[in-house]
Amino acid sequence: MLIDDIVESGHVKETLKKLSLLWRDRAMVNKGPLDYNSIAFSPEKPDFAESLLPFRSHPRWLSARPDLKSAVLSYAWAIYNLKTVYVECDIVTPACEDLIKCPVGNGQARYELQQVMGEALLDEALHTKMSISACNYIYLQRNLRPVDYMDFNLVTWRSRLLSHCGSEWERRLTRFAMACASETLITDYLRTLSDDTLIQPMCREVTRAHAIDEWGHSSVFSAAAEHIIGSLSQSERAYFARVVPQTVDMFADNEMGAWSAVLTHIDFPNREEIIQDSHKIGQVKVYQDSVATLLNRLGLQASPYWTA
Ligand SMILES: [Fe+2]
Ligand SMILES: [Fe+2]
Repeated sequence: MLIDDIVESGHVKETLKKLSLLWRDRAMVNKGPLDYNSIAFSPEKPDFAESLLPFRSHPRWLSARPDLKSAVLSYAWAIYNLKTVYVECDIVTPACEDLIKCPVGNGQARYELQQVMGEALLDEALHTKMSISACNYIYLQRNLRPVDYMDFNLVTWRSRLLSHCGSEWERRLTRFAMACASETLITDYLRTLSDDTLIQPMCREVTRAHAIDEWGHSSVFSAAAEHIIGSLSQSERAYFARVVPQTVDMFADNEMGAWSAVLTHIDFPNREEIIQDSHKIGQVKVYQDSVATLLNRLGLQASPYWTA
């Protein structure tokens, strides 16, 4: 039975129970650590998909030296993993903790909700560890100097949105809505890398392992949302339906600050021109469908954006 079928079929309590049973078999955390040494390193292969670079068609990028482009793709893998760590730690983990400490919503699904959120929390801790290991593996293989970056727009936006909340309940709902959006759309993003046979095998393998867990999480958060939405007022539902698409937009942000830091870090020629022009490029629009499906399933419509 597919996970989606389970979510479509039963009562939330039964759905969460079945998802928890599936977790025992499928979760990477129950399969032991990934053995990075068992996957051969291919120095000739790029460490990241060029198609995901915001400046991939810029003339200065296209005409750059191959060794510099290779280094940028390695740092792209690093930035991608660093952003993943922030998503796991700052977006998903707080929402899991909220529901473990104090499960909300009507009905009898209290224990099941705590159970699946505890499992998701374990998964996200593993993903954080996997991201750091995978990032450092590439640094060591390529003999690159690590880059540090902390100012992701996604994190800044999250802090601003939470600071505008008028109550602890609104902050909880905001954290949950952001996590729901994140957990619904991350599989789309992971699929781009996990299906790419041209990139570094280890990078593909790590994203594939992460994607397996996230397929489960999208169902877990979808079922949890169904459970929680039932207990919300009309205005709270409308608020939830505004925060979800806003989060999607922040995920699609090109994070040019991070790219600027990387290009400066390796003294990439004509980087100011690349960064300046890349600001004009639109955001990646790959996430909308899965989130629209989530809102439809919940009987909600994406509302016009509310700006903090
Ligand atoms: Fe994850
Ligand atoms: Fe997740």
